[in-house]
Amino acid sequence: MELNTIERDDIGAAAEDLVVLPAATRKVFVKTYGCQMNVYDSQRMTDALAIDGYAATDAIGEADLVLLNTCHIREKAAEKVYSELGRIRELKAERAKAGREMLVGVAGCVAQAEGAEIIRRSPLVDLVIGPQTYHRLPGVLAKARSGEKIVETDYAVEDKFEHLPQPKRAELIRRGVTAFLTVQEGCDKFCTFCVVPYTRGSEVSRPVAQIVAEAERLADAGVREVTLLGQNVNAWHGRGEDSEEWGLGRLLFRLAEIPGLARLRYTTSHPRDMDDELIAAHRDLPALMPYLHLPVQSGSDRILKAMNRRHMAKDYLTLIDRIRAARNDIALSGDFIVGFPGETEADFEATMQLVEDVNYASAFSFKYSPRPGTPGAEMNDQVPEAVKDERLQRLQALLLKQQQHFGASLVGKTIDTLIEKPGRQAGQKVGRSPWLQPVIVDEKAGEIGDIIRVRITKTGYNSLFAELA
Ligand code: 5AD
Ligand code: SF4
Repeated sequence: MELNTIERDDIGAAAEDLVVLPAATRKVFVKTYGCQMNVYDSQRMTDALAIDGYAATDAIGEADLVLLNTCHIREKAAEKVYSELGRIRELKAERAKAGREMLVGVAGCVAQAEGAEIIRRSPLVDLVIGPQTYHRLPGVLAKARSGEKIVETDYAVEDKFEHLPQPKRAELIRRGVTAFLTVQEGCDKFCTFCVVPYTRGSEVSRPVAQIVAEAERLADAGVREVTLLGQNVNAWHGRGEDSEEWGLGRLLFRLAEIPGLARLRYTTSHPRDMDDELIAAHRDLPALMPYLHLPVQSGSDRILKAMNRRHMAKDYLTLIDRIRAARNDIALSGDFIVGFPGETEADFEATMQLVEDVNYASAFSFKYSPRPGTPGAEMNDQVPEAVKDERLQRLQALLLKQQQHFGASLVGKTIDTLIEKPGRQAGQKVGRSPWLQPVIVDEKAGEIGDIIRVRITKTGYNSLFAELA
């Protein structure tokens, strides 16, 4: 049968895809800042808005609604919102002159942390919505359209995920062969530098059935690689299908049974929540990719204590040894903060030593940024900016050297690559290595969604070049 007007990928669409939706009459432009969870949240907000008649656009000038999904983790991230709002003010005025509305919404962690203050500082903002209330977006917008200013930052008592609509299958297909899936949100650890427990609330795990159903939908739409997300993802736990209490390790084994899902990842983890079962998953589950982001923040016991990380440097190194014993080709990644209050040169040297000892494949490092409301911001002995700058430079030079060394060690090796998308240059496609590096191959090497064997020929700045093996 010739299905000329239906995309091939729509064959077999789930029943709910056939529900007639209101024709999209308005346009929404969403800009995402910060972490992967915000990327996921932006998608889910877009899905909720699609039901409400909003089509996504990449052109801010034609948007009836502009949503900024914001990040509050460091001051620089939070301040970006206000400079963006400055630019939007002119666009909104231009549209008003043409008799067109442009609602402006601030979502995400800045919304949660600053609430009504955002509207006071930037009166052009029409609505402020925190990360726990996205499912209420359509109702909030209806009020905003009638001219009311809305601040919706109460922690929802209902389960947001249960109320958020699932995207249409065609939309999932459009999003590609890799996907994020939030399984856990919030944090109860209260590291003294961190705003997350205040902006994302306390730790909540999504139920197994909800996660499995979402992963199945993704797989059904051609997704090959799923990254499970949580601020403390390895603290995830839930009642399994066998009525036993599951941890993340068990969940990963369950998800690996879903046909089509070839690769699993998870991020971000806390060293204290790496249990035996999760380490065993790294040993026994081929679908679990050999890459682990395990932030340690500092190599100094004194600073780790002041940060309330509740472990010592030696505990972290022992843990790394156990993980490497389970999976010897695992690539390690981490986060570091330099210049936490009270950090001396000796403390910083301890961090450098830990980095030498671990040998990271990649890592993120930041200057400490005092965040309002966190204990760290109140501490004496704040480190001068110039000292932070100098330490960050030294740390980043070392981390970059290790990253390049890791890339170079792969040259000549044959590895699996998931082909993800067309390359930036004609004739190329971009894949992803098991260790998360982009892999540039000839476009004829395979189709998007294929996992192919390639030989690494050379390294780029942050990528690998490869040919079919
Ligand atoms: N200043 C600098 N870096 C921070 N991070 C979290 N809070 C701060 C802060 N106040 C870093 C940590 C964390 C990563 C997501 O951001 O390294 O792991
Ligand atoms: Fe922030 Fe992570 Fe510490 Fe939680 S565990 S407070 S999210 S750094």
